[in-house]
Amino acid sequence: MTKRKIDICEYAGQIIKAMRPGILITTKVGDKVNSMTIGWGTLGIVWEKPVFIAYVRTCRFTHEMLQGNGEFTINVPVGDFPRKALGLLGSKSGRDMDKIAAAGLTLVEPNIISVPGLKEFPLTLECRVLYRQTQEEELLGDEEKRRFYSIEKGPHTAFYGEIVDAYIIEE
Ligand SMILES: Cc1cc2nc3c(=O)[nH]c(=O)nc-3n(C[C@H](O)[C@H](O)[C@H](O)COP(=O)(O)O)c2cc1C
Repeated sequence: MTKRKIDICEYAGQIIKAMRPGILITTKVGDKVNSMTIGWGTLGIVWEKPVFIAYVRTCRFTHEMLQGNGEFTINVPVGDFPRKALGLLGSKSGRDMDKIAAAGLTLVEPNIISVPGLKEFPLTLECRVLYRQTQEEELLGDEEKRRFYSIEKGPHTAFYGEIVDAYIIEE
């Protein structure tokens, strides 16, 4: 298995497009590895560094994992991929089960951080949290409050991950 380095600027469109059906964020604390589906994310530059900002609701197990280890990988599908995994990883919680095993996904050793990538979601961003900020309810617009915070409760925390490595896992 090889990792082909990529320039994230060249892949920005592909990464953003993939967010609509869903991409993954993977976290690791001790021996526990967990992935969850995300549809919200920002790719850009902050403090002169390339960053991926993930918006994780405070109730998620992933949120708890990120408190334990401020590193994560972003895992983006390329070509054919197991679409059913997005549903499982986006509906079950890592608190209750080993979702990665249940989805039949394969962990791949990271280059720089402590959190692995996933062979089946090969475009990988290795990220280290630089900053985190939890939304304040009174600053949200009325429409966003109604649409996103009336049924599912709790704000999102924006985790600003510096992208320290970017590659595509290949056979
Ligand atoms: C397509 C899709 C996109 C999602 N996007 C997000 C997101 O951006 N942020 C978030 O907190 N939850 C998002 N979710 C919900 C989580 O993936 C879901 O609650 C998951 O079960 C949490 O897993 P965990 O408890 O193991 O962290 C999304 C779910 C789906 C199906």
